[in-house]
Amino acid sequence: GAVGKDGYRHYMEKELHEHPVVIGQTLQRLIDPATRRVVLPDLPFDLASVPRAVVTACGSAFYAGMIGRYWLESVAHLPVDIDVASEMRYRDPPLTPGGMGLLISQSGETADTLAALRGMRAQRQHILSVLNVEQSTMARESDVVLGTAAGPEISVASTKAFTAQLSVLACLAIAAGRQRGVLSSDQEQALVASLLDLPSRAGEVFDQSDAIREMAAVIAGARDVLYLGRGSSFPVALEGALKLKEVSYIHAEAYAAGEMKHGPISLIDQTVPIVATVPSGRLFEKTLSNLQEARARGGRLMVFTDTQGAERLRGLAEIVVAIPTVDEFTAPVLQTIPVQMLAYEVALLKGTDVDQPRNLAKSVTVE
Ligand code: G6P
Repeated sequence: GAVGKDGYRHYMEKELHEHPVVIGQTLQRLIDPATRRVVLPDLPFDLASVPRAVVTACGSAFYAGMIGRYWLESVAHLPVDIDVASEMRYRDPPLTPGGMGLLISQSGETADTLAALRGMRAQRQHILSVLNVEQSTMARESDVVLGTAAGPEISVASTKAFTAQLSVLACLAIAAGRQRGVLSSDQEQALVASLLDLPSRAGEVFDQSDAIREMAAVIAGARDVLYLGRGSSFPVALEGALKLKEVSYIHAEAYAAGEMKHGPISLIDQTVPIVATVPSGRLFEKTLSNLQEARARGGRLMVFTDTQGAERLRGLAEIVVAIPTVDEFTAPVLQTIPVQMLAYEVALLKGTDVDQPRNLAKSVTVE
């Protein structure tokens, strides 16, 4: 039957609150609770010997793919190429025979992603698709589908499908890491434990709603916003900027924090707030020094971090949102939630049509 809003003002708000459940349901499909190991459905190819993965998607699904790339490289030592589907389909890159084409799509109907899939198939890639709609054109044309258990997503701007996609990609990277002999069973157990911890940690993110609203009040007054992140936080920044543009119509741009000095630093002044995603971990200090540079130029800093990173950032940033500290592997999943919440809160302040932003479609089936 029709999906209701369950008392929420918008589908986007409802779907944001579904993150914890959706992550949990998606992981449940891929993790055996008894052994706490990742169990993928039978693949018609061998992850151990796959020479390369080619990742493609559009919109938010593409940013999920970027995070997937970091994981496949670091956890499974699998070489990865990645591009948006609208470029991939015409670039016609020569692909290594027997490689894995990894497609990501909520709808399974996006025209560019489907065309890229067909191009990969023509070059004898094994097609693995991460899809939310499992009765879709892409599902029929794939060798194997890993489903995201996000349920129907009604809001045009994707939210819960994104963390569900990440949940699948994390499991894929773990399975590939084990099969490729990169990951010991202790390491696998540790990564799985941190994944299984995500649903309850994700629930705690909503405790930060007041601080996120405070941030939204600043962002709603801006014409341009700069999002920053490094490593797997860079795609989180891209997702945050995309979501803000989509639902609030405020111009936002995301940059890899280390690249800021090569251009966007010239934009920084009081009027261009900076939204940075800076979880604790290996890249924390690096990003911190980029933020110090931005601060020195008069930038207003809005920071998403975790409880462990918060102390160092409080003196520097105007507003700090600290969500639970998790390990570096799962941090991008959790850090996505508050950046999406921020976009929603800004849209509310701007009074836009949150679930149906102008000019956008849920599923883009034309080129
Ligand atoms: C549209 C939607 C986005 C979505 C993108 C890709 O632009 O508005 O939210 O990320 O399509 O859609 P897909 O169904 O392939 O994930």
